[in-house]
Amino acid sequence: MILVTGGAGFIGSHTCAALSAQGLPHVILDNFCNSKPSVLERLARITGAEPVFVKGDVRDRALVARVLREHGVTAVIHFAGLKAVGESVREPLRYYDTNVAGTATLLAAMREVGVRTMVFSSSATVYGDAPESPIRESAPTGPTNPYGHSKLMSEQIMADLDRSEPGQWRLARLRYFNPVGAHASGLIGEDPQDIPNNLMPFVAQVAAGGRKELSIFGGDYPTTDGTGVRDYIHVSDLADGHVAALRYLEKHPGVLTLNLGTGEPVSVLQMVKAFESASGVSVPYRIVDRRPGDVAAYWADPETARKKLGWTAARNVEQMCADVWRWQNGEARRVQ
Ligand code: NAD
Ligand code: WQD
Repeated sequence: MILVTGGAGFIGSHTCAALSAQGLPHVILDNFCNSKPSVLERLARITGAEPVFVKGDVRDRALVARVLREHGVTAVIHFAGLKAVGESVREPLRYYDTNVAGTATLLAAMREVGVRTMVFSSSATVYGDAPESPIRESAPTGPTNPYGHSKLMSEQIMADLDRSEPGQWRLARLRYFNPVGAHASGLIGEDPQDIPNNLMPFVAQVAAGGRKELSIFGGDYPTTDGTGVRDYIHVSDLADGHVAALRYLEKHPGVLTLNLGTGEPVSVLQMVKAFESASGVSVPYRIVDRRPGDVAAYWADPETARKKLGWTAARNVEQMCADVWRWQNGEARRVQ
Protein backbone atom coordinates (compact mmCIF):
# COMPACT_ATOMS: atom_id res chain seq x y z
CA MET A 1 0.00 0.00 0.00
CA ILE A 2 1.32 3.44 -0.97
CA LEU A 3 0.44 6.61 0.94
CA VAL A 4 -0.07 9.59 -1.38
CA THR A 5 -0.03 12.84 0.60
CA GLY A 6 -1.67 15.69 -1.31
CA GLY A 7 -3.25 13.08 -3.59
CA ALA A 8 -6.31 15.27 -4.25
CA GLY A 9 -4.13 17.99 -5.80
CA PHE A 10 -3.07 18.56 -9.40
CA ILE A 11 -0.03 16.28 -9.66
CA GLY A 12 -1.15 13.95 -6.86
CA SER A 13 -4.48 13.11 -8.51
CA HIS A 14 -2.78 12.25 -11.81
CA THR A 15 -0.28 10.10 -9.94
CA CYS A 16 -3.15 8.26 -8.24
CA ALA A 17 -4.61 7.60 -11.71
CA ALA A 18 -1.20 6.29 -12.84
CA LEU A 19 -0.87 4.08 -9.73
CA SER A 20 -4.34 2.64 -10.37
CA ALA A 21 -3.46 2.01 -14.02
CA GLN A 22 -0.48 -0.03 -12.80
CA GLY A 23 -2.60 -1.90 -10.24
CA LEU A 24 -0.78 -0.29 -7.30
CA PRO A 25 -3.06 0.17 -4.26
CA HIS A 26 -2.82 3.50 -2.49
CA VAL A 27 -4.38 5.67 0.19
CA ILE A 28 -4.72 9.46 -0.19
CA LEU A 29 -4.14 11.86 2.72
CA ASP A 30 -5.22 15.44 1.99
CA ASN A 31 -6.66 18.35 3.96
CA PHE A 32 -8.24 19.96 0.85
CA CYS A 33 -6.53 23.29 1.54
CA ASN A 34 -5.92 23.59 -2.21
CA SER A 35 -8.22 20.97 -3.73
CA LYS A 36 -11.81 19.80 -3.66
CA PRO A 37 -13.49 16.56 -2.55
CA SER A 38 -15.06 16.24 -6.03
CA VAL A 39 -11.62 15.14 -7.30
CA LEU A 40 -12.19 11.84 -5.51
CA GLU A 41 -15.42 11.17 -7.44
CA ARG A 42 -13.68 11.97 -10.70
CA LEU A 43 -10.79 9.68 -9.84
CA ALA A 44 -13.38 6.97 -9.20
CA ARG A 45 -14.79 7.55 -12.70
CA ILE A 46 -11.30 7.23 -14.21
CA THR A 47 -10.24 4.13 -12.30
CA GLY A 48 -13.59 2.39 -11.75
CA ALA A 49 -12.98 2.16 -7.99
CA GLU A 50 -13.59 4.48 -5.03
CA PRO A 51 -10.27 5.98 -3.90
CA VAL A 52 -9.16 5.11 -0.38
CA PHE A 53 -9.06 8.48 1.34
CA VAL A 54 -8.28 9.99 4.75
CA LYS A 55 -8.95 13.67 5.37
CA GLY A 56 -6.15 15.12 7.45
CA ASP A 57 -2.99 17.14 7.75
CA VAL A 58 0.47 15.85 7.03
CA ARG A 59 1.74 17.82 10.05
CA ASP A 60 -0.40 15.67 12.37
CA ARG A 61 2.17 13.04 13.32
CA ALA A 62 -0.18 10.81 15.31
CA LEU A 63 -2.69 10.74 12.45
CA VAL A 64 0.01 10.01 9.85
CA ALA A 65 1.44 7.18 11.99
CA ARG A 66 -2.05 5.72 12.41
CA VAL A 67 -2.70 5.85 8.64
CA LEU A 68 0.66 4.18 7.95
CA ARG A 69 -0.11 1.38 10.42
CA GLU A 70 -3.79 0.83 9.68
CA HIS A 71 -3.34 0.73 5.90
CA GLY A 72 -0.14 -1.34 5.96
CA VAL A 73 1.76 1.36 4.05
CA THR A 74 5.16 0.37 2.63
CA ALA A 75 6.04 3.55 0.65
CA VAL A 76 5.02 7.20 0.55
CA ILE A 77 4.71 9.71 -2.30
CA HIS A 78 4.74 13.14 -0.68
CA PHE A 79 2.97 15.89 -2.67
CA ALA A 80 1.27 17.75 0.18
CA GLY A 81 2.61 21.27 0.29
CA LEU A 82 2.07 24.89 -0.66
CA LYS A 83 3.41 26.05 -4.00
CA ALA A 84 2.81 29.75 -4.73
CA VAL A 85 6.12 31.57 -4.95
CA GLY A 86 4.73 35.09 -4.32
CA GLU A 87 2.67 33.94 -1.36
CA SER A 88 5.77 32.31 0.12
CA VAL A 89 7.51 35.70 0.10
CA ARG A 90 4.58 37.27 1.97
CA GLU A 91 3.96 34.36 4.37
CA PRO A 92 7.27 32.54 4.84
CA LEU A 93 6.35 30.94 8.15
CA ARG A 94 3.31 29.26 6.63
CA TYR A 95 5.51 27.83 3.88
CA TYR A 96 8.21 26.59 6.23
CA ASP A 97 5.57 25.09 8.51
CA THR A 98 3.68 23.18 5.81
CA ASN A 99 6.55 22.32 3.50
CA VAL A 100 9.51 21.83 5.83
CA ALA A 101 7.89 20.90 9.17
CA GLY A 102 5.31 18.87 7.21
CA THR A 103 8.04 16.82 5.54
CA ALA A 104 9.98 16.38 8.81
CA THR A 105 6.80 15.29 10.64
CA LEU A 106 5.92 12.82 7.92
CA LEU A 107 9.43 11.32 7.97
CA ALA A 108 9.33 11.07 11.77
CA ALA A 109 6.01 9.20 11.61
CA MET A 110 7.43 6.94 8.89
CA ARG A 111 10.51 6.20 11.02
CA GLU A 112 8.34 5.44 14.04
CA VAL A 113 6.33 2.90 12.05
CA GLY A 114 9.30 1.52 10.06
CA VAL A 115 8.34 2.83 6.60
CA ARG A 116 11.53 4.05 4.94
CA THR A 117 10.67 4.67 1.30
CA MET A 118 9.56 8.09 0.08
CA VAL A 119 9.29 9.90 -3.25
CA PHE A 120 9.30 13.67 -2.71
CA SER A 121 7.98 16.54 -4.87
CA SER A 122 10.90 18.87 -5.24
CA SER A 123 11.21 21.55 -7.87
CA ALA A 124 13.58 23.01 -10.42
CA THR A 125 13.19 26.14 -8.34
CA VAL A 126 15.97 24.76 -6.09
CA TYR A 127 18.43 25.73 -8.87
CA GLY A 128 17.46 29.41 -8.58
CA ASP A 129 19.00 31.57 -11.30
CA ALA A 130 20.84 28.72 -12.98
CA PRO A 131 23.58 30.21 -15.16
CA GLU A 132 23.19 27.71 -18.00
CA SER A 133 20.73 25.22 -19.46
CA PRO A 134 20.17 22.36 -19.86
CA ILE A 135 20.41 21.99 -16.09
CA ARG A 136 21.92 18.79 -14.71
CA GLU A 137 21.24 17.52 -11.19
CA SER A 138 24.84 18.38 -10.27
CA ALA A 139 24.25 22.09 -10.99
CA PRO A 140 24.62 24.33 -7.94
CA THR A 141 21.46 25.01 -5.98
CA GLY A 142 20.49 28.50 -4.81
CA PRO A 143 16.80 29.19 -4.30
CA THR A 144 15.66 32.81 -4.57
CA ASN A 145 12.46 32.69 -2.49
CA PRO A 146 11.06 30.97 0.65
CA TYR A 147 9.17 28.39 -1.44
CA GLY A 148 12.40 27.33 -3.12
CA HIS A 149 14.24 27.26 0.20
CA SER A 150 11.49 25.10 1.70
CA LYS A 151 12.03 22.53 -1.07
CA LEU A 152 15.82 22.57 -0.70
CA MET A 153 15.54 22.27 3.10
CA SER A 154 13.27 19.26 2.70
CA GLU A 155 15.79 17.73 0.31
CA GLN A 156 18.51 18.34 2.92
CA ILE A 157 16.46 16.65 5.67
CA MET A 158 16.17 13.58 3.44
CA ALA A 159 19.93 13.53 2.76
CA ASP A 160 20.76 13.89 6.46
CA LEU A 161 18.37 11.11 7.40
CA ASP A 162 20.01 8.81 4.88
CA ARG A 163 23.45 9.69 6.27
CA SER A 164 22.31 9.02 9.84
CA GLU A 165 21.06 5.51 9.02
CA PRO A 166 23.04 4.44 5.96
CA GLY A 167 21.43 1.89 3.69
CA GLN A 168 18.11 1.95 5.53
CA TRP A 169 16.22 4.64 3.64
CA ARG A 170 15.08 4.75 0.02
CA LEU A 171 14.43 8.36 -0.87
CA ALA A 172 13.79 10.08 -4.20
CA ARG A 173 13.98 13.83 -4.66
CA LEU A 174 12.22 14.62 -7.95
CA ARG A 175 12.83 18.11 -9.28
CA TYR A 176 9.92 18.96 -11.55
CA PHE A 177 10.27 21.58 -14.24
CA ASN A 178 6.95 23.17 -15.38
CA PRO A 179 4.08 20.71 -14.96
CA VAL A 180 1.11 21.39 -17.25
CA GLY A 181 -1.57 19.37 -19.06
CA ALA A 182 -4.47 17.35 -17.75
CA HIS A 183 -5.68 13.76 -17.75
CA ALA A 184 -6.68 12.53 -21.22
CA SER A 185 -10.18 11.78 -19.88
CA GLY A 186 -10.79 15.49 -19.27
CA LEU A 187 -11.95 14.60 -15.75
CA ILE A 188 -9.02 15.93 -13.70
CA GLY A 189 -6.64 18.82 -14.23
CA GLU A 190 -5.25 21.98 -12.69
CA ASP A 191 -7.93 24.02 -10.98
CA PRO A 192 -6.56 27.24 -9.48
CA GLN A 193 -8.95 28.89 -7.02
CA ASP A 194 -7.97 32.51 -7.72
CA ILE A 195 -6.32 34.32 -10.62
CA PRO A 196 -3.84 31.76 -11.99
CA ASN A 197 -0.18 32.49 -11.25
CA ASN A 198 1.02 30.10 -13.92
CA LEU A 199 1.01 30.48 -17.68
CA MET A 200 -0.98 27.46 -18.82
CA PRO A 201 -4.12 27.87 -16.68
CA PHE A 202 -4.16 31.56 -17.55
CA VAL A 203 -3.95 30.84 -21.28
CA ALA A 204 -6.73 28.27 -20.94
CA GLN A 205 -9.00 30.76 -19.16
CA VAL A 206 -8.37 33.43 -21.82
CA ALA A 207 -9.13 30.93 -24.60
CA ALA A 208 -12.34 29.92 -22.82
CA GLY A 209 -13.41 33.56 -22.63
CA GLY A 210 -13.13 33.86 -18.85
CA ARG A 211 -10.37 36.47 -19.12
CA LYS A 212 -9.84 39.21 -21.68
CA GLU A 213 -6.20 38.76 -22.57
CA LEU A 214 -2.95 37.20 -21.50
CA SER A 215 -0.20 39.46 -20.21
CA ILE A 216 3.10 38.11 -21.49
CA PHE A 217 5.70 39.07 -18.94
CA GLY A 218 8.61 40.40 -20.98
CA GLY A 219 9.27 40.48 -24.71
CA ASP A 220 12.90 41.50 -24.56
CA TYR A 221 14.61 38.48 -23.03
CA PRO A 222 17.68 37.13 -24.84
CA THR A 223 15.65 34.20 -26.23
CA THR A 224 14.56 33.22 -29.75
CA ASP A 225 11.43 35.41 -29.73
CA GLY A 226 12.14 37.57 -26.68
CA THR A 227 9.69 35.79 -24.35
CA GLY A 228 10.58 33.54 -21.40
CA VAL A 229 11.61 29.96 -22.09
CA ARG A 230 10.72 26.95 -19.91
CA ASP A 231 10.58 23.16 -19.94
CA TYR A 232 6.87 22.25 -19.83
CA ILE A 233 6.13 18.66 -18.90
CA HIS A 234 2.78 16.87 -19.17
CA VAL A 235 1.43 16.00 -15.73
CA SER A 236 0.68 12.43 -16.83
CA ASP A 237 4.35 11.97 -17.82
CA LEU A 238 5.29 13.36 -14.43
CA ALA A 239 2.90 10.90 -12.78
CA ASP A 240 4.51 7.99 -14.65
CA GLY A 241 7.90 9.27 -13.47
CA HIS A 242 6.78 8.81 -9.86
CA VAL A 243 5.74 5.22 -10.47
CA ALA A 244 9.11 4.59 -12.16
CA ALA A 245 10.95 6.18 -9.20
CA LEU A 246 9.10 3.95 -6.74
CA ARG A 247 10.10 0.88 -8.72
CA TYR A 248 13.71 2.07 -8.82
CA LEU A 249 13.76 2.55 -5.03
CA GLU A 250 12.58 -1.05 -4.51
CA LYS A 251 16.01 -2.15 -5.82
CA HIS A 252 18.19 0.79 -4.75
CA PRO A 253 18.56 2.12 -1.19
CA GLY A 254 19.91 5.63 -0.62
CA VAL A 255 19.01 9.02 -2.04
CA LEU A 256 18.04 9.51 -5.68
CA THR A 257 17.96 13.04 -7.10
CA LEU A 258 16.39 13.52 -10.52
CA ASN A 259 15.21 16.22 -12.87
CA LEU A 260 11.80 15.47 -14.38
CA GLY A 261 11.45 17.51 -17.56
CA THR A 262 11.37 16.99 -21.30
CA GLY A 263 14.65 18.72 -22.11
CA GLU A 264 12.76 20.83 -24.70
CA PRO A 265 12.92 24.62 -24.36
CA VAL A 266 9.58 26.29 -25.23
CA SER A 267 8.89 30.05 -25.22
CA VAL A 268 5.72 31.73 -23.97
CA LEU A 269 4.79 32.72 -27.54
CA GLN A 270 5.37 29.18 -28.80
CA MET A 271 3.09 27.90 -26.05
CA VAL A 272 0.39 30.43 -26.94
CA LYS A 273 0.56 29.42 -30.62
CA ALA A 274 0.42 25.72 -29.74
CA PHE A 275 -2.63 26.38 -27.57
CA GLU A 276 -4.34 28.30 -30.36
CA SER A 277 -3.83 25.48 -32.84
CA ALA A 278 -4.92 22.78 -30.34
CA SER A 279 -8.08 24.68 -29.38
CA GLY A 280 -8.90 26.45 -32.63
CA VAL A 281 -9.47 29.58 -30.55
CA SER A 282 -7.37 32.72 -30.57
CA VAL A 283 -5.61 33.82 -27.40
CA PRO A 284 -5.33 37.61 -27.30
CA TYR A 285 -2.19 38.77 -25.55
CA ARG A 286 -0.23 41.86 -24.73
CA ILE A 287 3.48 42.03 -23.98
CA VAL A 288 4.01 43.81 -20.68
CA ASP A 289 6.93 44.35 -18.31
CA ARG A 290 8.95 41.43 -17.05
CA ARG A 291 7.62 39.78 -13.89
CA PRO A 292 10.03 40.46 -11.00
CA GLY A 293 12.04 37.39 -10.06
CA ASP A 294 11.55 35.63 -13.44
CA VAL A 295 14.50 34.00 -15.17
CA ALA A 296 14.87 34.37 -18.96
CA ALA A 297 15.25 30.70 -19.77
CA TYR A 298 15.84 27.33 -18.17
CA TRP A 299 15.22 23.72 -19.08
CA ALA A 300 16.20 20.29 -17.86
CA ASP A 301 18.81 17.80 -18.82
CA PRO A 302 16.57 14.72 -18.35
CA GLU A 303 19.33 12.14 -19.08
CA THR A 304 19.77 10.89 -15.51
CA ALA A 305 16.07 10.01 -15.26
CA ARG A 306 16.25 8.23 -18.61
CA LYS A 307 19.30 6.21 -17.61
CA LYS A 308 18.21 5.34 -14.06
CA LEU A 309 14.46 4.92 -14.48
CA GLY A 310 14.18 4.14 -18.18
CA TRP A 311 11.66 7.01 -18.14
CA THR A 312 11.27 9.85 -20.62
CA ALA A 313 8.45 12.30 -21.16
CA ALA A 314 6.31 10.95 -24.01
CA ARG A 315 3.75 13.71 -24.55
CA ASN A 316 4.50 16.81 -26.62
CA VAL A 317 3.36 20.42 -26.30
CA GLU A 318 0.40 19.82 -28.66
CA GLN A 319 -0.91 17.08 -26.37
CA MET A 320 -0.38 19.25 -23.29
CA CYS A 321 -2.52 21.98 -24.87
CA ALA A 322 -5.18 19.63 -26.23
CA ASP A 323 -5.60 17.96 -22.83
CA VAL A 324 -5.82 21.29 -20.97
CA TRP A 325 -8.45 22.47 -23.47
CA ARG A 326 -10.51 19.30 -22.99
CA TRP A 327 -10.32 19.74 -19.21
CA GLN A 328 -11.06 23.48 -19.40
CA ASN A 329 -14.24 22.84 -21.39
CA GLY A 330 -15.27 19.60 -19.76
CA GLU A 331 -18.45 18.81 -17.91
CA ALA A 332 -16.40 17.82 -14.84
CA ARG A 333 -15.46 21.42 -14.10
CA ARG A 334 -18.99 22.75 -14.41
CA VAL A 335 -20.56 20.29 -11.98
CA GLN A 336 -18.00 20.49 -9.17
P1 NAD B 1 -1.67 21.25 -5.43
O1 NAD B 1 -1.85 22.43 -4.55
O2 NAD B 1 -2.65 21.04 -6.53
O3 NAD B 1 -1.64 19.91 -4.55
C1 NAD B 1 -1.16 19.87 -3.25
C2 NAD B 1 -2.18 19.09 -2.42
O4 NAD B 1 -1.68 19.01 -1.07
C3 NAD B 1 -3.55 19.80 -2.34
O5 NAD B 1 -4.57 18.85 -2.61
C4 NAD B 1 -3.62 20.32 -0.92
O6 NAD B 1 -4.95 20.34 -0.44
C5 NAD B 1 -2.75 19.32 -0.18
N1 NAD B 1 -2.12 19.83 1.04
C6 NAD B 1 -1.43 20.99 1.20
N2 NAD B 1 -1.00 21.11 2.46
C7 NAD B 1 -1.40 20.00 3.11
C8 NAD B 1 -1.23 19.53 4.42
N3 NAD B 1 -0.59 20.26 5.35
N4 NAD B 1 -1.75 18.32 4.76
C9 NAD B 1 -2.41 17.59 3.83
N5 NAD B 1 -2.61 17.98 2.58
C10 NAD B 1 -2.11 19.17 2.21
O7 NAD B 1 -0.18 21.33 -6.00
P2 NAD B 1 0.53 20.44 -7.12
O8 NAD B 1 0.78 21.32 -8.29
O9 NAD B 1 -0.18 19.16 -7.31
O10 NAD B 1 1.93 20.21 -6.42
C11 NAD B 1 2.19 19.04 -5.67
C12 NAD B 1 3.59 19.14 -5.10
O11 NAD B 1 4.52 19.32 -6.16
C13 NAD B 1 3.78 20.33 -4.16
O12 NAD B 1 4.61 19.91 -3.10
C14 NAD B 1 4.49 21.35 -5.02
O13 NAD B 1 5.29 22.22 -4.26
C15 NAD B 1 5.33 20.46 -5.91
N6 NAD B 1 5.67 21.09 -7.19
C16 NAD B 1 4.67 21.63 -7.97
C17 NAD B 1 5.00 22.25 -9.16
C18 NAD B 1 3.93 22.88 -10.02
O14 NAD B 1 4.26 23.78 -10.80
N7 NAD B 1 2.68 22.47 -9.93
C19 NAD B 1 6.34 22.29 -9.58
C20 NAD B 1 7.33 21.72 -8.77
C21 NAD B 1 6.97 21.12 -7.57
C1 WQD C 1 6.11 30.39 -17.17
C2 WQD C 1 6.49 31.47 -18.17
C3 WQD C 1 6.43 33.68 -17.25
C4 WQD C 1 2.09 33.79 -16.54
C5 WQD C 1 6.67 28.51 -11.45
C6 WQD C 1 7.42 28.45 -10.15
C7 WQD C 1 8.26 27.19 -10.09
C8 WQD C 1 7.41 25.95 -10.38
C9 WQD C 1 6.60 26.09 -11.62
C10 WQD C 1 6.69 24.94 -8.31
C11 WQD C 1 7.40 32.55 -17.60
C12 WQD C 1 5.37 33.54 -18.31
C13 WQD C 1 3.37 33.40 -16.89
C14 WQD C 1 1.47 34.84 -17.26
C15 WQD C 1 3.43 35.01 -18.64
N1 WQD C 1 6.48 25.68 -9.34
N2 WQD C 1 4.03 33.99 -17.92
N3 WQD C 1 2.16 35.41 -18.29
O1 WQD C 1 7.51 30.99 -13.20
O2 WQD C 1 8.49 29.20 -14.72
O3 WQD C 1 7.61 28.56 -12.52
O4 WQD C 1 5.86 27.33 -11.59
O5 WQD C 1 7.69 24.41 -7.93
O6 WQD C 1 8.81 27.16 -8.83
O7 WQD C 1 8.25 29.59 -10.05
O8 WQD C 1 6.02 29.23 -14.27
O9 WQD C 1 3.86 29.23 -15.43
O10 WQD C 1 4.39 31.11 -13.82
O11 WQD C 1 5.60 31.00 -15.99
O12 WQD C 1 4.01 35.56 -19.56
O13 WQD C 1 0.32 35.26 -16.97
O14 WQD C 1 5.28 32.15 -18.56
O15 WQD C 1 7.01 34.95 -17.28
O16 WQD C 1 8.25 32.96 -18.64
P1 WQD C 1 7.48 29.61 -13.71
P2 WQD C 1 4.88 30.14 -14.83
